[in-house]
Amino acid sequence: MTGTQPTPGQAGASAVPTGGVWPQRRGFGVDVGGSGIKGGVVDLDTGALIGERFKLPTPSPATPTLVAQTVAAVVRDFGWTGPLGVTYPGVVVDGVVQTAANVDSSWIGLNARDTIAAELDGQAVTVLNDADAAGLAEVRFGAGRDHHGVVVLLTFGTGIGSALIHDGKLLPNTELGHIDVGGKEAEHRAAASVKERRNWSMEKWSKQVTRVLIAIEDALCPDLIIVGGGISRKADRWVPLLGNRTPVVAATLQNSAGIVGAAMASAADATH
Ligand code: BGC
Repeated sequence: MTGTQPTPGQAGASAVPTGGVWPQRRGFGVDVGGSGIKGGVVDLDTGALIGERFKLPTPSPATPTLVAQTVAAVVRDFGWTGPLGVTYPGVVVDGVVQTAANVDSSWIGLNARDTIAAELDGQAVTVLNDADAAGLAEVRFGAGRDHHGVVVLLTFGTGIGSALIHDGKLLPNTELGHIDVGGKEAEHRAAASVKERRNWSMEKWSKQVTRVLIAIEDALCPDLIIVGGGISRKADRWVPLLGNRTPVVAATLQNSAGIVGAAMASAADATH
């Protein structure tokens, strides 16, 4: 660790308190999205971003090498030299990408962790599913805060992402967006992109979302469902229309959830 990042600057860093005040524990997260790759320094105790986010356009085509170089450029913009977390919109097991439903297929089988680390200065990199990152952040600092039991977070965007969390512990890579709901994949039925493409009203779309939520609650009996993704900003226009059983609340961290959750995951890995 060369220590050029903002002090104390290392994920999980702690020191003897001076004057009774503990220093902030800081982490770094990068959220890789379809249109932008954004990163920021995160206060791991509050989930707040420290300073501004920095965003670069997602390269096209979004090949592993180009994405890794863009992630590294975002990290370098902050002078961050500690461990970092990076989201990926598919299944990631031990750094290795397993699926690429809505991204370049050249990612499949690739060790994303090593590919990104190779562009940086030997920093520890944690790569995790984008919805898993959002779920970690929402449950700890956002809409699921103080909620015990089983929480499902679903992100509605190009696809449907999912996170399944029990008492703060994540079961990774659940991929509920790909379960069969009445003969159709959940995300082909109810992603926000489907609403847009078909020009559906909120009423029409929320019927499809209800079917997906009922299938999920029949299987998992969650205590709470958190809905995220861009369309959750208009949650007051569609959440009241849902007809499922489990309480549904809108995500609150909006577009910082991925950054915050990625930073949390990397800090957890760094302390293992
Ligand atoms: C992918 C998930 C991802 C979600 C949101 C789905 O198509 O399979 O892994 O979390 O899209 O990006």
